Amino acid sequence: MVGHEHLLLHFARNGAYADGAADLLVLQRGEGPYVYDTSGRRYVDGLSSLFCAQLGYSYGEELGEVAATQMRQLAFKTNWATASPPAIELAERLSKVSGELALGKTFFTCGGSEAVEAAWKIARQFHLARGEPGRTKAIARRTAYHGVTLGALALTGVSSMKEMFGEPAIDVRHVANTNAFRPEVPDPLADVERAVEEEGPESIALIVAEPVQNAGGCLAPPPGYWEGLREIADRCGALLHADEVITGFGRLGEWFGSQRYGARPDIVTCAKGLTAAYVPMGAVLVRDEVAAPLYDAGRTLLHGVTFGGHPVCAAVALRVLDIYGRDHVLENVRALEPHLEQRLRGLLDLLLVGDVRGAGFFWAVELVADAADAPVGPLDRERLLRQYLPGRLREAGLIARADDRGDAVLQIAPPLIADRAVLDEIVDKMGEVLTDAGEWMTTHRAGAAAAA
Ligand SMILES: Cc1ncc(COP(=O)(O)O)c(C=O)c1O
Repeated sequence: MVGHEHLLLHFARNGAYADGAADLLVLQRGEGPYVYDTSGRRYVDGLSSLFCAQLGYSYGEELGEVAATQMRQLAFKTNWATASPPAIELAERLSKVSGELALGKTFFTCGGSEAVEAAWKIARQFHLARGEPGRTKAIARRTAYHGVTLGALALTGVSSMKEMFGEPAIDVRHVANTNAFRPEVPDPLADVERAVEEEGPESIALIVAEPVQNAGGCLAPPPGYWEGLREIADRCGALLHADEVITGFGRLGEWFGSQRYGARPDIVTCAKGLTAAYVPMGAVLVRDEVAAPLYDAGRTLLHGVTFGGHPVCAAVALRVLDIYGRDHVLENVRALEPHLEQRLRGLLDLLLVGDVRGAGFFWAVELVADAADAPVGPLDRERLLRQYLPGRLREAGLIARADDRGDAVLQIAPPLIADRAVLDEIVDKMGEVLTDAGEWMTTHRAGAAAAA
């Protein structure tokens, strides 16, 4: 294997891999829901890479042909006051699949953070055009991840990722999320209302939330939550933004998670599953009324990125959307969700597992310290999530995510083409790893207590 000393890893302790100190997992090949490392070892990709490889890894021939055809015809044209047929067609198709959400206009980006940031700028321009320049604030939720570019980072509610970068680019008030296992407040909607009142209803430009919040571990909304957000947004005159970077394109069994939860957002951001990760692309979808001021005579939409709406990516996305329909991908998620849920709930018997939560093909198990479900403390989290689990998961041949932006969780988001046997394989491996992890924690704690 070639050395990797020139490559900086994202969200990784780069030093841990320096000079071969730890063995970097280098994946070389994929097939269906499986990936293979450079030594030929197979892993079941229980995370769709990073919640994005919806189709797994066997559509390369077909999508490669689509990309090659587009490259031969026209490799690139920007959307800066020009356009290409695939970008035009994709915007139209997205408007169609948004169905009753009626998201009639699309602005393309290269990924999720850029989409979230563009959504904010479109919202601001909407309010400015309507003579409300004082709407400068956003409401977002604690622990939620909306991306890392400075605007998106302001919306992100994970303080450890933000503190070192100074004053946030956007004035954001963070409110309670919908963690039902360890509720922050009795009524998350009341918390949003309180925030709006305290900040001043006339100062709020945007309320943003994910249909199911990823960070914190697949936090689904309680019944009536999205209807409540809609009412609050309408009452205070803010736009409602559903960040569907993860939940879009079948992850929850629908084109958009908003459709599952009766959400009626003004703005939807998406990325990841839009192209099933075969190429990078993101998008902001808005209702016609939100885009309307952008069509006023003489008004310029003051935002743009060179590669937003790249024709090769748009052509691939169009075929990916075809495949979702042709190969019954959303139906597969809907049909197998009950089985996956039931298998995961079986893990609740393990000492280390306190809660199982999620929807569709997007689930988390919360790891707990004891039979009374106490949260795993910071020291044990460090040991469990960063020392023990990565190696043990790798040994088991499972890609899953151990995360503690909120409480400690192990998350899965299988490729949406996974069949029952693949889902069983994922859950079996989780069970095996978490059983060992529970024993390891007990021994480790006993060892630490003896040494103290
Ligand atoms: C809800 C949400 N918004 C935004 C982002 C940022 O997307 P990207 O990593 O493509 O910039 C992510 C990434 O995981 C996300 O989950």
